[in-house]
Amino acid sequence: MKTAVYPGSFDPVTLGHYDIIERTAKIMDRVVIGVLQNKSKTPLFSAQERVKMLEEVTKDLTNVEVRCFDGLLIDFARSCNAKVIVRGLRAVTDFEYELQMAQTNRVIAPEIDTLFLNTNLKYSYLSSSIVKEIAEFGGDIRGFLHPQIAQKVIEKFAQGKNLETK
Ligand code: COA
Repeated sequence: MKTAVYPGSFDPVTLGHYDIIERTAKIMDRVVIGVLQNKSKTPLFSAQERVKMLEEVTKDLTNVEVRCFDGLLIDFARSCNAKVIVRGLRAVTDFEYELQMAQTNRVIAPEIDTLFLNTNLKYSYLSSSIVKEIAEFGGDIRGFLHPQIAQKVIEKFAQGKNLETK
């Protein structure tokens, strides 16, 4: 069984991420999405919330599962019995960072390869931060996220505003 892990922060999952997940699910037997509890980022959603959102949007992809992880990605990949790490490349600017990660991971775990998928052109400019910034200032984010995820982002910012005014 060919298993791939697709790691990231997914704060929140965008249509760009989903495109990569859907395409990976077609070429691999099993895909484990790894939600990183990233200590260098302050997330809008907790890791549990991010896992739930991913489970919701991938519920029709029967060979996809979602897990949370911290620590080294290669340890997570090994714990999933995965020999492949999938990453999306949006533009040339992603390349240097991704190559460095892939090379490093390959040195410390030679049995695991990184597979790059080019991000759908429609979403090549997209990032979770950009979506959050638009939402924070009341912009329309419906073109970037699944409707139920867009709703959660809007609610999250509304909660924050309510707390500020209390
Ligand atoms: N569509 C839309 N956005 C995309 C995208 C796509 N296809 N691919 C990436 N992005 C965006 C993400 O939304 C994210 O945006 P943000 O910075 O605004 O949140 C950004 O690109 C970064 O991507 P992400 O996939 O979330 O990566 P990351 O940099 O947060 O984490 C890990 C990358 C998880 C692979 C890396 O940090 C890791 O391996 N950590 C574990 C520790 C470890 O092993 N370190 C040693 C590595 S050599």
